[in-house]
Amino acid sequence: MDSILVTGNGPLNGQIPIAGAKNACLTLMPATLLSEEPLTLTNAPRLSDIKTMTALLQSLGAEVSALQDGQVIAMSSHDLTSQTADYDIVRKMRASNLVLGPLLARFGQAVVSLPGGCAIGARPMDLHVEGLEALGAEIELKDGYLHAKAPGGLKGAVHEMRFASVGATENIVMAATLAKGTTVLKNAAREPEIVDLVECLRKMGAQISGEGTSTIEIQGVDRLHGATHQVVTDRIELGTYMLTPAICGGEVELLGGRMSLVSSFVEKLEAAGVSVSETEKGLKVARKNGRVRAVGVVTEPFPGFPTDLQAQMMALMCTAEGTSVLEERIFENRFMHAPELTRMGAQIEVHGGTATVTGVEQLKGAPVMATDLRASVSLILAGLAAEGETTVSRVYHLDRGYEHVVRKLEGVGAKIERIKGE
Ligand code: UD1
Repeated sequence: MDSILVTGNGPLNGQIPIAGAKNACLTLMPATLLSEEPLTLTNAPRLSDIKTMTALLQSLGAEVSALQDGQVIAMSSHDLTSQTADYDIVRKMRASNLVLGPLLARFGQAVVSLPGGCAIGARPMDLHVEGLEALGAEIELKDGYLHAKAPGGLKGAVHEMRFASVGATENIVMAATLAKGTTVLKNAAREPEIVDLVECLRKMGAQISGEGTSTIEIQGVDRLHGATHQVVTDRIELGTYMLTPAICGGEVELLGGRMSLVSSFVEKLEAAGVSVSETEKGLKVARKNGRVRAVGVVTEPFPGFPTDLQAQMMALMCTAEGTSVLEERIFENRFMHAPELTRMGAQIEVHGGTATVTGVEQLKGAPVMATDLRASVSLILAGLAAEGETTVSRVYHLDRGYEHVVRKLEGVGAKIERIKGE
């Protein structure tokens, strides 16, 4: 298994291009199932999660081709052959459950495996099921699979979600595009990836309003047509690389970055003493002198501080002056990076969903192990700031969500290499 060797070597300077959003692409791809006509995505990120979604769509009979080195994904769901999302694929990636809403809407039936537990918590699907049932679906759990049907088709309804789940919002919105009548989804998630999905669905002929607010209204149409859509910038990759000058010093411009995607995160960076400014090409982040200050963080649905940047922010706080409290409110078990950071000299105490971090003057390199996608990149950030060598093993997690990580970090002067394993 490959590992990544990082050697801390001082301030980082230069530019990092930011890719299209993994999480947007993973919901835009299943949207192809809603139409017989082709859907093409541009600015797609080159990631193993995208390959997993490709394999899932192909297993349903969709044609999916990666063009232009994977940056363009051309899809057609003209001749689908199956409405079953198999456990073998779904267990690899929870976002596989995003085929449920589209399949049900177009074919009146779908069978989708439950994702099962994953490293960062139980991650159930009750909110997806409740929303689709409100649209008239009948859903049964049998042998680990959700069997969904809507023999007479889905019907628009008013539904309020108990929690603003991102995936459930996406599934319900996609399903409602082909339902009869109007659906009003209350307490919907407001993430930029949902806005991006709605923009794409609209290009396909869907009638939707209110995306980006907590009430989304969908007027069902008979059919959707083909479209081409550019995937929105990855705000999590953006935030991750914004931390490179914050943790190592220096000045880095993030190409394609936009303030509106990361405003709650920027507030925290600025409170920590890091400067962030808009440029013509993106965002510029700089830390010139001294250590950052400790700041507290509570993860929340968008526009709050993203859970997907909590591990990386913790790496920064490990080097801050003072004590910070990080509260994780979206997922249980999302502090698995803490013991690994501790191996690098960090001082962290975890009690339930709260981590208290007392910054140290200097982290020290160590062999560490990635436990999930965002944890793995937090260890790389810590390694960049540490004295000596850090080896991060199990980097397949990293490949799920960060394209060309070594090349991007080398581009700003980091000493980093991928070591091929057996
Ligand atoms: C998406 C993102 C993920 C991010 C998360 C929260 C994708 C592919 N993934 O995941 O990177 O960390 O949003 O911003 O877009 N829940 C339930 N019942 C449900 C659904 C969710 O209890 O039916 C719970 C989950 O267990 C979790 C919380 O709600 O504790 C948030 O989940 P959700 O917003 O659905 O996240 P995902 O869509 O899975």
